[in-house]
Formats: sequence, structure tokens, C-alpha cells
Amino acid sequence: MKKILKRVLAGVGAAILLFITAIIVKFYVLSPKSRPAPVMSAPTNAEAIERGRYLVHHVAACVGCHSQIDDKVPGEPVVEGKLGAGRDFGEIPSYPVHIRAGNISSDSETGIGGWTDGEVARAIREGVSKDGRGLFPQMPYTTYRETLSDGEVLDIIAYLRTLKPVKNDPGKTSVNFPISMFLRAVPKPLEVAAPPAPSPSDKLARGRWLLKTASCNDCHDSVNEKMQKIEGKALAGGMKFPIAGDRGYAIATNITSDRATGVGAYSDEDLRRALEEGKGKDGRDLYVMPWSYYKGMTKEDKDALIAALREVAPIANVVPPSAVKVK
Ligand code: HEC
Ligand code: HEC
Repeated sequence: MKKILKRVLAGVGAAILLFITAIIVKFYVLSPKSRPAPVMSAPTNAEAIERGRYLVHHVAACVGCHSQIDDKVPGEPVVEGKLGAGRDFGEIPSYPVHIRAGNISSDSETGIGGWTDGEVARAIREGVSKDGRGLFPQMPYTTYRETLSDGEVLDIIAYLRTLKPVKNDPGKTSVNFPISMFLRAVPKPLEVAAPPAPSPSDKLARGRWLLKTASCNDCHDSVNEKMQKIEGKALAGGMKFPIAGDRGYAIATNITSDRATGVGAYSDEDLRRALEEGKGKDGRDLYVMPWSYYKGMTKEDKDALIAALREVAPIANVVPPSAVKVK
């Protein structure tokens, strides 16, 4: 009897050891998956720089996350002289992560001045920093790998190279165990680059691309307490954003086409006003929502984005109102 028990226990022990080894190999030996930075070279002509500026400021809104911003002002404008200098998002309550978006100005010490174009491209679409560190997926590289073609990434880099160097080290993102372990499996090398963005003449395709590339889902999808997306509730709202300085919170609106709880009953003008002037349908100022960046989208692109919102299937989800204390 004892012998059998011993054998069973030894078997269980070996199985546990094997399991732990498998986990270590998967997350610490094989991850983050990365390849040497590709050899790429960004153009330097004015047209490419302008296309890049449009994407960086008004579509992907990279600078909203990568600059020091003034969150007391609706639309979160960039603090003067801090464009691209990085941003400390602070601690997230009840989530063991402190997120800091790196300096993407051309400073050679604290920014990306000393990075090759290929290293910047790899960070944007593959989620790997210059030093090989895997990036926290608040940086939307999992989206960009699907939406940004080689041409668009190079235009973006062409523009980033023109940002004035600003010396500022926002520090590194820190993530506690065990989330830190699972995150190591998120970055991966790009296999096939995305095709170029749809042209504005294909309105719906262009709108869907804008909706993705502008990261609307990252704030407007419904999540549970662990900040995990809830299946079947894309764009149905409810994510809560505390506002620094104990000034209350904004809650992302349900922007599906549900008439009662979403934006289905909004006119195009209501939606345009949110994107252009940062006003909710009820006239309130919108906080956290990066409308001051989207505002610069062309009218054609805003119309395409609105058309794409219209075709999002209705999901009934009542979202409590934001409660921002204006001081
Ligand atoms: C929603 C916010 C957000 C947006 C939008 C965003 N980023 Fe990031 N980005 C981050 C965060 C946060 C990090 C740091 C992640 C980490 O350190 O783990 C980061 C990291 C990076 C890095 C690596 C920096 C380093 O020092 O390792 C580069 C380069 C970068 N982003 C460029 C861009 C570009 C270009 C765009 C637009 C096309 C963009 N980002 C859009 C949040 C964002
Ligand atoms: C960084 C997070 C964030 C991103 C990215 C974001 N939003 Fe928002 N959005 C919010 C929050 C939060 C609110 C509610 C603000 C408030 O009540 O003060 C909001 C409000 C809105 C409203 C106002 C609806 C109303 O009347 O209440 C619309 C429309 C909207 N967002 C559409 C979009 C679209 C379209 C995109 C992508 C192009 C987008 N948002 C990207 C956070 C975000």
C-alpha cells in the first residue's frame, strides 16, 4: 500500500515539475518572441512627413499617450514644450501595473534619436523595445501590426524624426507577477505587413480602418474588474478612468448603435461634435476622450468613421454617467 502511495506521489511530483518547467520555457525562454530589428529606411520628403504627422497627431494619436498632457483640460492637450517627451500614466487602482509611455522625441539619450528606423518600426508593430524588452500592450502594437503598412510606419517614423529633442525620462513600465509573466507572450514578429490603408473613396472600409487604428476599442470596449474585455461587448462602454488629483472619473460611453443605451439615436452632427468640439450629446465636456487629436481628421475621414460606427451592431448596455469634478 505504502509503496503504491509513494509511487503515485513521485508521479504527481514529476508532473508538477514538468508543468513548471513548461511554464518557464514558454514564458521566460521562448518569450518575448522577437527578431532582430528589420532594416528599413524612412523617407525624408515633405509629403511623407506630412502623411506621418496626420497619422501621429490625428488618427493613431500617438502624441496623446507619448507626451505630458494637461488632464485638467478636456481633450487632454499636450503641455507646451513636452511633445513626444513621454507620459507617466501613474498607478492603476486595483491593477498591479504602473504604465509609462516612452519618450519618442528625437532626443538621443532619453528619446528615440539613437534608434534605427527598423527598431522604431519593430516597437510600433511587434511590441519590442530597442533593448529587447517586450512592451505592455497598452501600446497598441497588436492593432498596428494589423493596420499599418510598411509605407505608413515609415511615414510615421519620418515625422517622429522631426520632433524636437526633449530631454525627459518618464521611467519604465512596471508590472507585477503573474501578469508580468503572461504579458511576455504578447509581442511577436510581424510575418506579413498590412496592406496600405483603404482610400477615402471606399468610405466604409476606410471608416473601419480608422476605428481600429484610432484605438476607439481600447477605451470603449466593456471590461470586467480585471480589465479583461468582455466577449460580445465590443464598444459597449463602461470602462472607468479616474482623473488625477481626486477629480472624479470619466466613464466611456456605449458607442454601439443601440438606440436606447448607445449612440444609435445620435445624429451625425452629434457624433461630429463629440469628435470636433469634445461635447457629449447632452452638451457636457468630454474628459479622457482624446477628441482634441481626432479633431484634426479631415471631414472625409470623420464622415467615414461615423459611417463605420453606424454599422457596429447594437449592444444594450447601460453605462453610468461620468462624474468629473471641475476645479
Ligand atoms: C494608448 C496609448 C498609446 C498610444 C496611442 C501609442 N502608444 Fe506607444 N507606447 C505606449 C506605452 C504605455 C508604451 C510603453 C510600454 C512599456 O514600456 O511596456 C509605449 C511604447 C512605445 C515605444 C517604445 C518606447 C521605448 O522606450 O521602449 C515606441 C517607439 C512607441 N510606443 C511609439 C508609438 C507610436 C509611433 C504610436 C502611434 C502610431 C504610439 N506609440 C501610440 C502607449 C501608447
Ligand atoms: C483614451 C480613451 C478613449 C479613446 C481612445 C476614445 N474614447 Fe471616446 N470617450 C472616452 C470617454 C472616457 C468618454 C466619456 C467622457 C466623459 O463623459 O467625460 C468618451 C466619449 C465619447 C463619445 C461621446 C458620447 C456621448 O455623447 O456621451 C463619443 C461619440 C466617443 N467617445 C467616440 C469615440 C470614437 C469614435 C473613438 C475613436 C476614434 C473614441 N471615442 C476613442 C474615452 C475614449
